Amino acid sequence: MATKTKKPWPTKAVMTQIYDMKLWGGKDFDFYSGTGSHDTEIVTTYINAVTAFLKSFSKPLTICDFGCGDFNIGKHLVPLSKKYIAIDIVKALIERNQNLFKAAHLEFHCLDIAKDQLPTADCVIIRQVLQHLSNPEIQSIVTQLQAYKYLILTEHIPLGNFTPNKDIISGQGIRIKQHSGVNILEAPFNLKIKNKKQLDEHILENNKGRIVTILYTMF
Ligand SMILES: C[S@@+](CC[C@H](N)C(=O)[O-])C[C@H]1O[C@@H](n2cnc3c(N)ncnc32)[C@H](O)[C@@H]1O
Repeated sequence: MATKTKKPWPTKAVMTQIYDMKLWGGKDFDFYSGTGSHDTEIVTTYINAVTAFLKSFSKPLTICDFGCGDFNIGKHLVPLSKKYIAIDIVKALIERNQNLFKAAHLEFHCLDIAKDQLPTADCVIIRQVLQHLSNPEIQSIVTQLQAYKYLILTEHIPLGNFTPNKDIISGQGIRIKQHSGVNILEAPFNLKIKNKKQLDEHILENNKGRIVTILYTMF
C-alpha cells in the first residue's frame, strides 16, 4: 500500500486563512498580525532600536519590508526612509494597507517572497515571518538576501540553547514546540555575512522564548 504524505496547503492560502479566521488573535480588528506586532512592550523597544539604526545615516535608506502584515510596525518606519516597499502574500491585506497608509514614497505589493522576484533596496526588514515558513521557503528567501546591504531580522526563538532550523510546514505555528528556531547562519541556510549586531530582545513570560532582532551587514 502506498504511504500517504501530508501535502501542505500553499502558503498564500494558509496566510489568508490565518487572517480570515483570526488565528493570531485580534477579534476586534479587521486584520491582526499577532501580539508580537501589537504588544506595546514588544513593539516599543523594537521601533526605538530600528529608528536609532535608520537615523544613524545622513542619507535615508531605501527599505523593503518582507511580510509587512497589518503594518502596525512598518507605519512607524516609513518617515525614516527614502523609499519604503512593503510586501505581503495576502492580497486583501495589501489592498487594506494601500487604503489606510499613504505616502508618496510608500508602496505596497502582493508578492510571495519565497517565489517572486523581489525589489531591491539598501535594507530589508523581515520581522516574525521566517519563523512561520518551511525550510525550503526560507532557503529560497535567503538566496536573495545578498542583494541587500543590511538585513534586520526578527525571530521568535527558544530561551537558551536549541537545535536550529528544524523543518516545519508553513503556517500559524513556529518551531518553538520542537524547541527549535530559525538561525539563518546555521545549516541548511549558511548565510555568509560580514557582521552582526543584536538590536533588540524581548523575553516572553512563562518560558515562551524570546523575540530577537539582529542587524546583519552583508558582504
Ligand atoms: C506574524 S506576521 C508579521 C507581520 C509584520 N512583519 C510584523 O512584525 O508586524 C507574518 C506576515 O508574513 C506574511 N508572509 C508569510 N509568508 C509570506 C510570503 N511567502 N511572502 C510574503 N509574505 C508572507 C504573512 O502574510 C503575515 O502578514
